[in-house]
Amino acid sequence: MLRVKLSIFCIFCGLFLFNACRQDMADQPSYRPLQPSNFFADGQASRPLVQGTVARGQLRDDVHLYTGKKEGQLVTTFPFTVDKTVVKRGQERFNIYCAPCHGQTGSGNGMIVQRGFKKAASYYDKEVREKSVGHYFDVITNGFGAMAGYSAQVNVRDRWAIIAYIRALQESQSGNVEPLPIETMTDFAPSGVVDPKKQNPLSGSTPKVEKKTEEKSESGGH
Ligand code: HEC
Repeated sequence: MLRVKLSIFCIFCGLFLFNACRQDMADQPSYRPLQPSNFFADGQASRPLVQGTVARGQLRDDVHLYTGKKEGQLVTTFPFTVDKTVVKRGQERFNIYCAPCHGQTGSGNGMIVQRGFKKAASYYDKEVREKSVGHYFDVITNGFGAMAGYSAQVNVRDRWAIIAYIRALQESQSGNVEPLPIETMTDFAPSGVVDPKKQNPLSGSTPKVEKKTEEKSESGGH
């Protein structure tokens, strides 16, 4: 009887001793990412994606929105309706990502430029101004000359919003501010900077407008 008990005891001990020896769960015969393999003809363990595979949330079928191009040509229109909320968002993103070089007014003389970086383009140069919105989208996405691309920092819709704001800046310098009601202008001005009675806050000084207002008040006085 003792022998039987002893042998059962030994079997139990053996079970406990050896049960950690099977590492199959940890060492599976599966491949690690990018590991080589003799099994597949191309020598890679990782299989290429089935053509046309799209990761969840990554479908980019709106070419206009994602590339700023249509049939290979730079677009001249926005991919979605631009309203005040969009321009506001653009202003905010612009002041964060672009103003350090281009300046808050867009004249190309931001703080980084003042500290020695190549002068950033002024949005009011005829040549830059006449470029299509598709070109602007391309510049923000892929960079241009000394300027790096901002696709990692600024998402696609925000890039368009920034362009809308740049267009608003350019419009503000065109000297043609009559169509803009003053309420709209003050909406976009940094708080406390603008006297709503005066003029377009985006334009710094537009002598043309100032003159007109003066003329009006003068003529009113006479
Ligand atoms: C680090 C500085 C810097 C920042 C930040 C920057 N830019 Fe620029 N940008 C430049 C410079 C410099 C140029 C001129 C490039 C050249 O001529 O080599 C330029 C040129 C441009 C041009 C003119 C392209 C043309 O056709 O001539 C546009 C448009 C532009 N930037 C838009 C933007 C926008 C929008 C942002 C913000 C998302 C931005 N930039 C942020 C430095 C900057």
